[in-house]
Amino acid sequence: MSSIPAIPHSAPRASNSALWRGVIDRYARYLPVSDATPIVTLHEGNTPLIRADNFVEACGGQFELWLKYEGVNPTCSFKDRGMTVAVSKARERGASIVICASTGNTSASAAAYAARAKMKCVVVLPHGKIALGKLAQALMYGATTIAVEGNFDDALRIVRELGNTGQVEVVNSVNPVRIEGQKTAAFEICDQLGRAPDFHFLPVGNAGNITAYWKGYKEYYSVQKADRLPRMFGFQAAGAAPIVDGRLIEKPETVASAIRIGNPASWQAATAALKESKGHIDKVTDEEILAAHKLIAQTEGIFAEPASAAPLAGILRCTKARMIPAGSVVTAIMTGHGLKDPETAIKTAGFEPTIVAPKKETVMKVIGL
Ligand code: F0G
Repeated sequence: MSSIPAIPHSAPRASNSALWRGVIDRYARYLPVSDATPIVTLHEGNTPLIRADNFVEACGGQFELWLKYEGVNPTCSFKDRGMTVAVSKARERGASIVICASTGNTSASAAAYAARAKMKCVVVLPHGKIALGKLAQALMYGATTIAVEGNFDDALRIVRELGNTGQVEVVNSVNPVRIEGQKTAAFEICDQLGRAPDFHFLPVGNAGNITAYWKGYKEYYSVQKADRLPRMFGFQAAGAAPIVDGRLIEKPETVASAIRIGNPASWQAATAALKESKGHIDKVTDEEILAAHKLIAQTEGIFAEPASAAPLAGILRCTKARMIPAGSVVTAIMTGHGLKDPETAIKTAGFEPTIVAPKKETVMKVIGL
């Protein structure tokens, strides 16, 4: 038990039961926390589950698709669910420095939660391969930001080595409490749908999230909070598909920079989730990812980052291959917000604002009136 007191502002005392207090408060009984854990929260979780009929129509499918919009978490990705637990536990243990390797979202989240906990945060990033919004977040939250001349796998290797010195707390998903926090998204889906889905689609990078969701679904099923177990359908980018290709990828490449990973840390756990759930893993090309990225924005008004479009590209493929039976309930995770990567979005949109003289007539002409 630690003697570090709870952080007053992080444990809201308001009596209003409508106040959402974050995933630890909501799902404490399923998480490795106790009354002595000083909860560091930004009130993450409770994200919308949005039915996407327009997208299904555009796919030519005959199933129910529900999108879990994790991009509206406090740092705009699903990482906040794991980070609230990881930083709370680091604080409980009395750690003063948290560190992570990241393709951008983990670092944004770690930096924010560390700021909240008054802890030092160090982020190790692949130089030049971080989407602009994510880099802005790490810098703005005040993390010590180190760009290695290598890829994510190099950064994670270094971070693990530093973790072994015992001087820093690693908050990558190799830290099991990250997985514990992230599994709460599976609980929320079951609570929101009133059942578990038949199919669960998600992008796969370092493979922590597929591991976490599968753990969450299994735990909810075991306490009869879910009536079934979904089949897990994971998608990697074609240039960064070690699990699909069955080999390490030394120089992974993809426009979906979040999942530009050649040696996933949770490879084995992901393989187990796929096998146990009778799931499926495949790779989608950058062209398919970008087409889905644009399609979901323009059919549903949902702006997700390119990595989040990988499972949507997967749904398009699986629909064509008739792998999703009519009437199925399908969920897909929109893991990060589209504003994280504005440069790719502007390129993908494929058009620029029309510049006109400041007159009503010129604007009307553009509208076609
Ligand atoms: N989608 C987004 C937006 C991500 O940021 C990540 C991973 C994934 C999907 C894949 O999840 O790694 O659990 O399989 N981002 C990590 C990071 C690697 O550093 O932010 P995964």
